[in-house]
Amino acid sequence: MEEQVSAEKSDGMKQEWVNLIRVFTCPEDEKTRDVLVHHMRQILFELHDFLIQNVGITEAVSLKEISDRCTDTVMNSLPEKRLADVVSGVFEEIAPHAVNVASPYFVGHMTAAIPYFMVHLKAIVAALNQNVVKLETSKMLSVVEKQVVAKVHRIIYQKDEAFYREHVQNTHTSLGSFTEGGTTANLTALWVARNRALGPVGAFEGVEVEGLPAAYAAHNIDRCVILVSRRCHYSLRKCGGILGIGNGNIIPVPVDRTNRMRVDRLAEMIEGFKKEGRTRVAAVVTVAGTTETGNVDPIPEISALCRKEGIYLHADAAWGGPTLMSETYAHLLKGIEQVDSVTIDGHKQFYMPMSTGMVFFKDPTSLDAVAYHANYIIRKGSVDLGSKTLSGSREANCLILDSAFKIMGSRGYGMLIDHGIELARSFAEEIERRGIFQLVTRPELNILTYRVCPAPFQEEMAQASPERILELNEHFNEVNRALQQEQREAGNSFVSRTVLELETVFPGFPEGKVVVLRSVLMNPLTTMDVLRDILDEQEALYADWLRGTSTRKGRNREDAI
Ligand SMILES: Cc1ncc(COP(=O)(O)O)c(C=O)c1O
Repeated sequence: MEEQVSAEKSDGMKQEWVNLIRVFTCPEDEKTRDVLVHHMRQILFELHDFLIQNVGITEAVSLKEISDRCTDTVMNSLPEKRLADVVSGVFEEIAPHAVNVASPYFVGHMTAAIPYFMVHLKAIVAALNQNVVKLETSKMLSVVEKQVVAKVHRIIYQKDEAFYREHVQNTHTSLGSFTEGGTTANLTALWVARNRALGPVGAFEGVEVEGLPAAYAAHNIDRCVILVSRRCHYSLRKCGGILGIGNGNIIPVPVDRTNRMRVDRLAEMIEGFKKEGRTRVAAVVTVAGTTETGNVDPIPEISALCRKEGIYLHADAAWGGPTLMSETYAHLLKGIEQVDSVTIDGHKQFYMPMSTGMVFFKDPTSLDAVAYHANYIIRKGSVDLGSKTLSGSREANCLILDSAFKIMGSRGYGMLIDHGIELARSFAEEIERRGIFQLVTRPELNILTYRVCPAPFQEEMAQASPERILELNEHFNEVNRALQQEQREAGNSFVSRTVLELETVFPGFPEGKVVVLRSVLMNPLTTMDVLRDILDEQEALYADWLRGTSTRKGRNREDAI
C-alpha cells in the first residue's frame, strides 16, 4: 500500500516536472502558439486602453485600498495561474491603477509616452537575454554597445573620424558605458573623478585600493569636496555618500536668477579652498537641463575655470543631452565637448523604456580608474564590458537605442526636441497672457515653472514690505499646493509641483520658499490645446478655492489676505 502511494507521488512529481520545464521551451502546437500571440497582441494594442481612464493618481481607488490588496506575504507553493490568467489579472487589477504617463495631459515628470516600437525592442532584448557583463554571454551585443556608445560620444565630443576608428572597438579603451539610469551614470563619473583626485602618490596605491583615511593622509588633506549647481539633481548627494566623501561635502554653488551656476561664486569657492589648503576639490558638476527648471549652466566659462584649476568637470546632461540632436537648439549646450564626462539618460529624451542611462568620457582611458578584473571573466584586455562598469550583469539596452536611431534617425530625435522647446515657449506666453498666473522660470529647454498668483497680487508684491511679501507668498504657496493636489486627484491631467527659493521671483530676497507648478513638455502628442485645457482646469480650481467650494483644507483664505 505504502509503495503504491509513493509510486503515485513520484508519478505526480514527474508530471509536475514535465509541466515545469515546458515553460522553458517554445510551444510546438499551433493552438498554444496562437494563445501566446494573442497575449502579445493584447500587450501591444489593449494594454493602452486602461490609460484612457485616468491621468493622475486619483482618489477613485485610494492608495490605502490598493495597499490593502497587496499585504499577503506568503508565497504560493503550487502554481496558481496560467499565463492567460496572469495577463488578464494585470489588465484588470494592475494596469487600471498604474499611472498614465503616456497621456498628452501628463506633463509633470520626465517620463512620458514612448514610441510603440520600443515595446518590440524591449521584448527582443528579453528574448535574447544577453548579459553584456562579458563577451561570453553577449558577443555581438557587447560590440554593438561599444558602437552605440561611440555614436553618442561623437555627438557630444565631435572628435574626428580617425579617433572613432581607433576607439570604437578598441578593447583597451572605453568611450563610456550604459548604466541603469542617470544616478548610476553620475556615480560612475564621480567615482572616476574621486579616484583621479586621490590617486597613487609615493607608496600610497590610490583611494580605490587603500580607502579614504589613507588617501587623506597620503594627500595631506582633511576632506574631499564636489562642487555642484544648487539646482543639481539629488543623485549627486547620494554619490557623496556612496563614494565615502560624505554627502555634506557635495557643496552647492549658488545660481543666478535664470538658475544657472554662478561662475564668479564657483571661482571664489575654489579660491577659498585653495587658501584653506586642507580641502581637495575632486570635481565640479555642471547641469545641462536642471531637473526642476530645465536650465543649462554656462559650460564654456565653467570649463575654462576648471581647466585653469586642474579640476575634473562632469556634466549632468541626463535630461538635456539629446538637445544636441536638434539642428536648431544644439547650441544651448555649447561647451559640453570640453567637459571630462557626460551623463545622458536613455529613458528620458531618447524615449527609451525604463531604465537606461549612459555615461561618456572625453578621455578613452578615464574608466581605467575604476577597472576591475577577475580570473573567470573580465580578463585584462578582453571586450568584457563589466570590467569598467559599476554594475555586473546588465541587459543589452544598447540594442534598443541602436534600433531607435535606425528607425528615427538623429533628425527624428531633433524634431522631438524642437517640438518640446517650442511648445514650452508658447506655453510660457499663454501663462503670461492669462491674468491669474505668474511665470516663475522661463523655459530654456522644455521645462518651465509657474504659479497661480493673480496680476493684482503680483503688482502688490512688487511694492510690498518684506513681511507682506512673505505673507502673500505663504498664501499662494498654500493655494498652489492644494490646487496641484486637486488637479492630480481629479485625474484629467497632471502637472507636478516643486519648491524654489523666493529669490527666484524677487531677486536678492533673502528668505522664503515659493511653491511652483512644474511642466515638462516632452510628449510629442501634447499640443497647445491640451495645455490650454490644463490651465483652464487650474483656473476653475482656483475659482472653487475662492468660492470656498474646494475640497481641500485651508480653502477660501481670501479674507486672510
Ligand atoms: C539632471 C538629472 N540628473 C540625474 C537624474 C537621475 O536620473 P535617474 O532617475 O535615471 O537615476 C535626473 C532624474 O530626473 C535628472 O533630472
